[in-house]
Amino acid sequence: MNEPKATSGVPEAVRAGVPTVWRNPLVRPADDTLSELPQRFYDLAAAGRLWRWFAPLLSRLFPELKASGGFIDSALVEPKDSFARTVLGAEGRVLVKADHDLPVTGSIKARGGVFEVLWYADRVARSFGLPPEGRAALANRVWKERFSQHTIVVGSTGNLGYSVGVMARALGFAAEVHMSSDAKAWKKDRLRHIGVNVIEHAADYTAAVAAARSSAATRPQCHFVDDESSEHLFYGYAKAASHLSRQLEAAGIAVDADRPLQVYLPCGVGGAPAGITFGLKHIFADAVHCVLVEPVESPCMLVQLASGSEESVSVYDIGRTNRTIQDGLAVASASLFAAGVVRNLIDGVVTVSDATSLEWVRRAWFEAGLKLEPSAASALAAPAVWTRSGGDPQHCTHVVWTTGGGLLPDDVFRQLLNDSPADATRS
Ligand SMILES: Cc1ncc(COP(=O)(O)O)c(C=O)c1O
Repeated sequence: MNEPKATSGVPEAVRAGVPTVWRNPLVRPADDTLSELPQRFYDLAAAGRLWRWFAPLLSRLFPELKASGGFIDSALVEPKDSFARTVLGAEGRVLVKADHDLPVTGSIKARGGVFEVLWYADRVARSFGLPPEGRAALANRVWKERFSQHTIVVGSTGNLGYSVGVMARALGFAAEVHMSSDAKAWKKDRLRHIGVNVIEHAADYTAAVAAARSSAATRPQCHFVDDESSEHLFYGYAKAASHLSRQLEAAGIAVDADRPLQVYLPCGVGGAPAGITFGLKHIFADAVHCVLVEPVESPCMLVQLASGSEESVSVYDIGRTNRTIQDGLAVASASLFAAGVVRNLIDGVVTVSDATSLEWVRRAWFEAGLKLEPSAASALAAPAVWTRSGGDPQHCTHVVWTTGGGLLPDDVFRQLLNDSPADATRS
């Protein structure tokens, strides 16, 4: 095969589609790296302020947020010891950061997607003058009418489109969601039901994002949510780090050099895991180790980093198909923006087959009562293989970030529990 030279650093096993543990040779001390990145902690603090300003509005729009006062966060769950042992393949402490149950949209994409729609609503509202009674008034009819003159456009494998669509429509914006061929029917149906213009593409995620970008470029009063390079999405995800830090403190779990945190994050285009890694490194520096998890057929971040290239490299360049039941992670080319953030911050990448991912969907449900989609379940496959490839599993607290699945319709979930991997790929 006539392969572009840029991929020569990618290990043979990754090229062959074999589950692999890749340790990042470029990982460096957090403080050095963070001081060199263009992203800044004060932008993260500003993101926190925006979330706080909008909490009363979110609480008004979504009754399920009343209990949290309008804050979107998930529980930090400690599964029983027997499940922790299965996940780690050894004795040790395993916690689940349960973003699969995140309120409003049931996936990690609520953090970035909701945040970016709020940021845009704030910008539009400021152009009129903010309501003196506070941002909760932005749910009033007069504001919905104003927002309805604007369109929010996004391209997605499913969950980002779902999160952006739900938040945009709740405020009255028009919404146009370009879905890749991977997106599941139930997400598209639910979006259409709330008035989102869903455009289906027979092509992959990169093509859906490109179509969304071109569509947005032709319209006035339009905002394109750019999953490949948006800083708003990024800071929305990054805020999760301070939530986790507070939860660990409340649970009495110390994080330091003697008891580091090992975090496993599913990775698609890379925005969500990059944002969370950035946030965690700011808080815990070298006492946190982040490992990304990707499907064997879509290891786009691994390929990007291992290639050492500054140009975009694709999983197609190494002969992989980008066909996977881990639909949220079905991305052929990583975000260069996200790759630039994680290049010197992550410890490595674990790749997971569809069969293993499905096996973890079943185990998570039957052994721990966690309702996960395959993209999220793949994170549970990582701790045992990562620690087996080096290190002492008992030395760390392991946090598995389960990124989606809570809103899966019962029949779709039942089908996942019964599917063989081959069936699931077709559905
Ligand atoms: C369930 C789930 N987990 C993880 C991710 C990865 O996020 P990102 O594409 O920002 O890397 C996605 C992306 O859509 C997702 O849907």
